[in-house]
Amino acid sequence: MKKRDVIIACDFASAAETFRFLDRFESEKPFVKIGMELYYAEGPAIVREIKRRGHPIFLDLKLHDIPNTVRKAMAVLSRLDVDMCNVHAAGTIEMMRAAREGLTRPDGTRPLLIAVTQLTSTSQERMQRELLVNATMDETIVRYALNTKEAGLDGVVCSPLEAGMVKKACGRDFLTVTPGIRFADGDAGDQVRITTPARAREIGSDFIVVGRPVTAAADPVAAYRRCVVDFVGTM
Ligand code: C5P
Repeated sequence: MKKRDVIIACDFASAAETFRFLDRFESEKPFVKIGMELYYAEGPAIVREIKRRGHPIFLDLKLHDIPNTVRKAMAVLSRLDVDMCNVHAAGTIEMMRAAREGLTRPDGTRPLLIAVTQLTSTSQERMQRELLVNATMDETIVRYALNTKEAGLDGVVCSPLEAGMVKKACGRDFLTVTPGIRFADGDAGDQVRITTPARAREIGSDFIVVGRPVTAAADPVAAYRRCVVDFVGTM
């Protein structure tokens, strides 16, 4: 796995659609994010098949439940050979610790485990009004990131705009995986806290997660390459 990379959010409804998309890439094997829609539709078989084709995988199921349930669910997921998976930091330090314990394989290895701070579709106004969180968005993100570090996880999912302050609070080695990426000339859609691939690199993202700007592009391979060049520097 590369230290800095572009992860494509394969938010497709079926295996057929996913492979039609992945077949467009010839020799490149982009890092693929499998989210709830695809996983719930196709189950673990889709993970095994994408892995067999040589793609690194981020299994984005955002677990959030009582610690015992999360521990056991992670133990099952650890048998899938994914490279990264995640939980919600809102589940508390105890839940995150349980996730990490459950995820570890008998040989001591495990995928990277990261925690979602606040979804990049959530605005501070909605967080305060609907969730009764009185802190600011930045305070919440930093606190969730520190909790994640304390629980022994590898990093967080956050907006690219927050990657710098997360690194400052948790250290350079603490990973930031950032969705909410848009080209300067693209559509924001439902995302609120967004920036471009190049700016995400400047702020300190380790991995950017890009969905619709690639999957809905007229030429997805070209859009992916544009992200890689802007974010990583070279193809
Ligand atoms: O299409 P778009 O680029 O907005 O896709 C972003 C992806 O990142 C989606 O799969 C979404 O579920 C995911 N994500 C997010 N914000 C988070 C965590 C994950 O947008 N905080």
